[in-house]
Parts: sequence; C-alpha cells; structure tokens
Amino acid sequence: MINNSSYRLYGRNKGRKKKHNNSFLKIRLKTIDKKKDYIIDIGAGFGESTIKLAKANKDKLVVCCEKYIDGLNSLSNKVQSESLYNILIYQGNVHQLLDEHCEDGSISEVWILFPDPWPKKRHFKRRLIDKLFFVKIQKYLKKGSTINIASDSKSYIAQILETIHYVKNDFAWLNQSKSEWYYDPKILPETKYFKKALKNGHNPFFVKLEKL
Ligand SMILES: C[S@@+](CC[C@H](N)C(=O)[O-])C[C@H]1O[C@@H](n2cnc3c(N)ncnc32)[C@H](O)[C@@H]1O
Repeated sequence: MINNSSYRLYGRNKGRKKKHNNSFLKIRLKTIDKKKDYIIDIGAGFGESTIKLAKANKDKLVVCCEKYIDGLNSLSNKVQSESLYNILIYQGNVHQLLDEHCEDGSISEVWILFPDPWPKKRHFKRRLIDKLFFVKIQKYLKKGSTINIASDSKSYIAQILETIHYVKNDFAWLNQSKSEWYYDPKILPETKYFKKALKNGHNPFFVKLEKL
C-alpha cells in the first residue's frame, strides 16, 4: 500500500529481496504538459513495454507509471544501459499522476497491458479499468490520442467491453472485428504477464480506442 490513503493501491510494492535500490528516483517525472507528446504506460511492471515504446517513439516522452519497486529498478537499469533518455518514471497510482501532475489535453497515448485482474467478484472494485476511470482520463487526452489495453482475464475483458460500450460517444473502437483482437508479440511488447498468459493457455485480448 502506498502512503497517501486516497490513492491506496492493493498488491505488492516490492519483491522479497531485503535490499532495495532506489536509483530509479533519479529519473522521476515532474509535469505532463501540452508542450511535448507524452505516452503513459500504466502498470508497466518490469517496463518491457516502456522500453519498446521509448525505442519506437524517440521524439516522444514515455512515462512509466508503476508502484512496484523491483520493476522500476529493472527499468531504470535498462534506461541507463541503453541510454533511453525519453523515459520518465512516476512511482505511484495513475489516479494521483493524473490529478497532480497532468495538464488537461496533454496525453497522446495510453498503454495498459495486463492490468491486475482481481478475479474474485468481491475484488472487482479494485480493477483499474471501469467507467469512472474513462470519465476521469478523457479530459487529459489529446483529440486523436489512443488507449491500448490488453487482458487475458475473461471477466475483466467482459468489463472492458461493457466500458467501451459506455464511452462509445467519446471513443472510437479501432479494432472491432474479432480477428483484430489478437495480441501480436511481433508488434506488441512481450511483457512478463503476456508470457504468463500464454503459459497458462490463455488467449490475450487487445483493444485500441481513439479519443474523438
Ligand atoms: C499484472 S501486472 C502487469 C505488468 C505489466 N504490464 C505486464 O504486462 O507484465 C499489473 C501492474 O499494474 C500495477 N498497477 C496496478 N494498479 C495501478 C495503478 N492504479 N497505477 C499504477 N500502477 C498500477 C501493479 O503494481 C502491477 O505491477
């Protein structure tokens, strides 16, 4: 759990190692403004997606929003070894990132790959993607910006589809036909949880939306 109680997050902040290196703090984010193009990678885990996005978008800034310290340290090491200086790190809840560090109409792209599924019905309210999240994030998005989501949880996919329907007047669904839902690792990041989904015999679902 992080300290600020209104932005409380469930799940682990760090792994089981005793010593934790906080070197990622050196590349912390300040403000997301309209002057540059920002891509936000929410819940990036070990940052495989952040690295891929940063390499493919050298002219943009990629913000990794994550609370998991081991993942942020791993990302920070790659940033330094591969000199990827268009990556910024925000350690914490994306709701706090939006509320406190983001100007309206400033975000060009959002990525949410394999968000925590919270499979038990009583925990569904902990899920990140719901109607309220879309209502909140849309004011921070540029017109024509995209939201990219992947999940391998059947009940979460159903909730995401219901949410897409709810926001249909504000977002266009770009890959509506079932054949386009395939999560193609040749194009999309091979994250830890993508590999886990394949190992478990799941079929990840990918959706791309455009802000109208
Ligand atoms: C299941 S992991 C997926 C990690 C990575 N995207 C992948 O595909 O391997 C979900 C991650 O989202 C992070 N997370 C959950 N809720 C979040 C929130 N509200 N803001 C930022 N990160 C969050 C968790 O700390 C966790 O590392």
